[in-house]
Amino acid sequence: MRHIADPVFPKNFFWGASSAAWQVEGAVAEGGRTPSIIDLNSKTKKPFADNSITADHYHHYKEDVALMKECGFTSYRFSISWSRIIPAADRKVNPEGIAFYNNLINELIAAGITPIITLYHYDMPVWVDEKFGGWHDRGIIDEFDFYVRTCFKEFGDRVKYWLSINEQNMQIVYGKWLGVAKGLSDEEWEVQKWQINHIMNLCHAKAVIACHELVEGGKIGPVPGYVPIYPKSCRPEDQIAAMNAEELTQKIWDDLYAYREYNTFIKNYWKEHNIDPLIQPGDMELIARAKIDFFAVNCYRSDVGKYPDPSYTQEIGLNKYGRKGEFIYTNLPGEYALDRNPYVETTDWDWHIDPVCMRYSLRYMWDHYHLPMLITEAGYGAHEDLGPDGKIHDDYRIDYLRDYIYNVGLAIEDGAEVWGFNPWSFTDLLSTGNGMAKRYGLVFVNTTDDDVRDLKRYKKDSFYWYSKLIKSNGREWGKDMSAWRDFTKTSPVASDMKDKVKE
Ligand code: BG6
Repeated sequence: MRHIADPVFPKNFFWGASSAAWQVEGAVAEGGRTPSIIDLNSKTKKPFADNSITADHYHHYKEDVALMKECGFTSYRFSISWSRIIPAADRKVNPEGIAFYNNLINELIAAGITPIITLYHYDMPVWVDEKFGGWHDRGIIDEFDFYVRTCFKEFGDRVKYWLSINEQNMQIVYGKWLGVAKGLSDEEWEVQKWQINHIMNLCHAKAVIACHELVEGGKIGPVPGYVPIYPKSCRPEDQIAAMNAEELTQKIWDDLYAYREYNTFIKNYWKEHNIDPLIQPGDMELIARAKIDFFAVNCYRSDVGKYPDPSYTQEIGLNKYGRKGEFIYTNLPGEYALDRNPYVETTDWDWHIDPVCMRYSLRYMWDHYHLPMLITEAGYGAHEDLGPDGKIHDDYRIDYLRDYIYNVGLAIEDGAEVWGFNPWSFTDLLSTGNGMAKRYGLVFVNTTDDDVRDLKRYKKDSFYWYSKLIKSNGREWGKDMSAWRDFTKTSPVASDMKDKVKE
C-alpha cells in the first residue's frame, strides 16, 4: 500500500532495546552462577573474547538502567541465565540469582520501563547438558519446566511479558556454530536436529502453559529469527527454492507455534529423508494446549533464494571474521541455495541492509498468523572504537534504525499489529561469534577483545537520535522519509556489485 503521511505509532508503543544474559552480564562465576554450554562455546571463538566479562552488566545494571531511562525507554528485553537460578542438579533455587534479577526488574519498573524476559537464550547449564546430553534426552523437559515455573513464581507478580526460546530455528539451522550439534557428524546432525527440535518444541509448550497457569495476566510468545527469502529471479525454480528456504529456516517453526501442529511440508520432508523425530503419545496434545499470545520477531536482514547448484557440496552460510565479501552462502543440494542481493548494501559481516525486509516480515507474519508482534531484535553490527574526540559517530546505525523503524511504521499502516520495537542492543555486548569486535550498542562499552579497559559507558550518536524518536513516539525522524512511502526510493545496485549486475 502507498501511504500519504508518516506512520503513526500506537499510543503506549514499547520503545526499548534487547540483550541476552550470557552476552551482557559477565560475572560468570559470581553470585552462585555455574557454567553454561555457551560459556564453553564462546571460548572456541578465538581470537575473540569469551563471555566472562563482556559488558559487565551484572555490576553496572543500575547505571545501564539509568541510561535507558535517560534515553526514554518504555521497555527492555533481557534474558535470565538458567544457571544463575538453578546452579546444580539438586534443583536448589539460588537466592543470589533471584536477588540479581529482582534488583534489575525493580530498577526497571522504578524507571518506568516494562521488563520483557526471555527464558532461554542459548545458555543451557552445563549440569543439564551433562545430565541429559543437551536437548537429546526428554529428561530436560521436566527440568526446563521446573526452571520456568521458578521464574514465573519469583518474578511473575511484576513481569507480565515473557518469551520462551530465542531463535529455536537458528539453533537448529546454525546448530554447529552455536554449539547445539557438538560432537555430531553431519549425517547424525541431519537426523538428530529434528529430534532435538521436537524436544525444544515441548519445552516451549511447557513454558507457554506454565506462564498462563502461574502469571496473572501473563502473556507469552516465542522468538523466531525471521530472515525473509526473496527469490533471486522469476525463474520458477528460484521461486520454489525460496519457498523451500523459508520452510526449512523459519516457516515450519512459526507454523508449529501458531497452529500447534507440524505442517505437511516438514512431515513429508521427514518421510522422504527417513527421519523419525521421535514424537511420543501425548506430545502433540501438549503442544496443542500451548496457545501463544504474540510473536516476538528478530529481523535483521533478508536473503535471496535460488535453485541450488547440484554440483556444489553443502555449505551453511557464515562470515566468521567480519571481513566484507567473505560470506559463504548456504547451498543445500536438492532444496535451495542463498545468494547476495545486489540491490542492497551489506555490513562488514555481509548481512544485507534491507529496511523493506522489516515491512515484508511483519506483513508476512501478520497475513499468516494474525497474532500481534513485538520486534525483539534488529540492529547493525560494526567494528567500532572511540574516536579522537572520545565519541562514536555511528551514522550508519542511525540510518539503519531510522529506515527499519520507519518500515515498521509502514507495516503498521499496512495493517499489521505491532506493539513494540526493541533493537539489538542497548549497550555493546558480546557477539555470538565475534566477541567485542562486532558491536551493536547504542551505548559504547569501553572494553575490547584483548583489553578489558575500564568498561566505561559512552553514549553513541545513535543514542541521542533514538532518544528523540522515542520521546516523540515515532515522529522525529531527523530526515524527510517520504521516499519510503511510495517506493520513489528505488533500490540502486549496491556499490560493490556494480560491475557484476547490468540493470
Ligand atoms: C540474534 C541472537 O540472532 O542475533 C543474538 O538472538 C545475537 O544472540 C544477534 O547476538 C546478532 O548476532 P551476532 O552473531 O552478530 O552476535
